[in-house]
Amino acid sequence: MSLRATLAPHASAVSEATPDKRGDCFDRGAHSATPSQRHKIIMKSFFKRYTPLQIAIHIYAWSALVRLIIDYFTGNLTANPIQALEQRTGRHAITLLVLSLACTPLNNIFGWRELIKRRRALGLYAFLYATLHMLIFVDLDYGLAWSLIVQTILEKPYIVVGVIAFLMLVPLAFTSFDIWKKRLGKNWKRLHQLVYLIAPLVVLHYAWGKKGDFFRLQGEIIRPLIYALIVILLLIMRIPQVRKALAALRDRILVLLRRREPVVE
Ligand code: HEM
Repeated sequence: MSLRATLAPHASAVSEATPDKRGDCFDRGAHSATPSQRHKIIMKSFFKRYTPLQIAIHIYAWSALVRLIIDYFTGNLTANPIQALEQRTGRHAITLLVLSLACTPLNNIFGWRELIKRRRALGLYAFLYATLHMLIFVDLDYGLAWSLIVQTILEKPYIVVGVIAFLMLVPLAFTSFDIWKKRLGKNWKRLHQLVYLIAPLVVLHYAWGKKGDFFRLQGEIIRPLIYALIVILLLIMRIPQVRKALAALRDRILVLLRRREPVVE
């Protein structure tokens, strides 16, 4: 008898169950199992429901937030904690945004289709951090003094760029759910193509805010430069001709690799 059948008469139903009913079947099956067997079943059912990539994305997004909160309350930020919070939330936002932008081109090259399913979570987490970043600026930094906020924004063009990028992110975040995809039809795709504009704007916001000299490679420009290069590369990879060429290259490499595989008699 298989281990699963020994553990619980209902355990076999776990694999056949629809995703939302898996937990149910597990509970019934686990009743008759010992604690260590139950632990094994829990882990198995957990990894059936969530993929490693999905888990990694959620862990990254939430652990960064938890670390920020802990560092804030334990006084573990820099001498200027509000600026540190602003910078860290900004960097998480841009990182998650770039990762969401990378999903489609990476799927085109490596054929890793799961990436397409993870775009939404990455984009929503980017929006979460961008919202925190904006709230820290208006509340913690400027104490909701609106006339001063408007004055500062108008005086510093890099903040204007950040505000424009944020305002463009809002409709994308709110319409990222399936119900809006259905409602908007073809316009959904058009709307979400805004991300091709948002990403360069955010990079510009980052680089401009750092006041470095790109041409002389002076100042804190290395990180913004890396983001800029990645965004440029990802945008180039979306050009139809480039996409086709990359797909053809991938197919050729796969053919070559298959030819090299030893034939097992
Ligand atoms: C309402 C919109 C926004 C406002 C008011 C705003 C404001 C600011 C300010 C004041 C800084 C400079 C912090 C400092 O060094 O003292 C900054 C930096 C930054 N912002 Fe924004 N921002 C906005 C939108 C965004 C968005 C949408 C993103 C990304 C998705 C973003 C990413 C960044 C990054 C990466 C930095 C640089 C962090 C660093 O210095 O390491 N910002 N932003």
